[in-house]
Amino acid sequence: MNLDRYAVIGNPIEHSKSPWIHARFAEQTGEPVEYGRILGTIGAFAQDVRTFIEAGGRGMNVTVPFKLDAHALAESLTPRAAAAGAVNTLAFTVDGIRGDNTDGIGIVRDIEQNLGVRLEGARILLLGAGGAARGVVLPMFEKKPAALTIVNRTAAKAHQLVDQFADAAEAAHVRFSGGGANSVEAGPYDVIVNATAGSLDAALPDCDDGVYGPGSLAYDMMYSPQPTVFMRHAEALGARASDGLGMLVEQAAESFFVWRGVRPDGGVVLRELRKVLSAQA
Ligand code: ATR
Repeated sequence: MNLDRYAVIGNPIEHSKSPWIHARFAEQTGEPVEYGRILGTIGAFAQDVRTFIEAGGRGMNVTVPFKLDAHALAESLTPRAAAAGAVNTLAFTVDGIRGDNTDGIGIVRDIEQNLGVRLEGARILLLGAGGAARGVVLPMFEKKPAALTIVNRTAAKAHQLVDQFADAAEAAHVRFSGGGANSVEAGPYDVIVNATAGSLDAALPDCDDGVYGPGSLAYDMMYSPQPTVFMRHAEALGARASDGLGMLVEQAAESFFVWRGVRPDGGVVLRELRKVLSAQA
């Protein structure tokens, strides 16, 4: 059988779980998909993508550190990729290279469907104001939370995001504000999302402990085999905590849907992946 080729590109890439996830999606849906991994060359991302297209590639997932390069390379962007300012999904079509971003819908689906927490009417605190945070703002507004507050170490970057999305917040009737760690509205919050790069170096983003409570979900966008420092801190204050493994699976499911028009069941694959990873631990 002829298989359509896809791949994830990043640097480093050897530990990527995307090939495993997409292989399961292909099995589950019966789609003729083959999905590999490509170690991208720093400074030559566009060439790597073109080489893959010439070899028959149909689409790519893009991970660290190439999401901005992919945004620059795309000949057209979906509205959600334009708003995020970053691309994690490329589709190679007759109309050229199309850039999309499925990260935001990935986290929203994981929180609502896999973790069972409704965002409608919720008070959400977003820690961080970089690329990862920017990508989740609009998908969260779509769920009509009561409030979204952005807190960042560098207050000016939180203010920039508030300016960028002020009109969208008004249209969605979401109370929307942001600033430095001392500007946060009193907690506890229903959902606290760690979108800082802090977990990479085991740093806890600075924030009042009162934001976490027994009814809170503390969600770390990072995945690591052990609970992150953010997750442990939130749990010590009575909150429920989750890592970002489900977001990884759900963003992959949305990319698969973008390419194939068929939506795999992310929840099933997430449970399988957790089993595999805990057996390895
Ligand atoms: P990404 O694309 O992963 O979001 P980024 O755009 O470089 O990466 O943004 C990194 C985010 O993590 C920023 O919000 C950054 O805060 P600053 O804007 O103040 O730099 C945040 N961050 C990184 N390390 C942090 C740490 N040790 N504590 C708190 N915030 C941190």
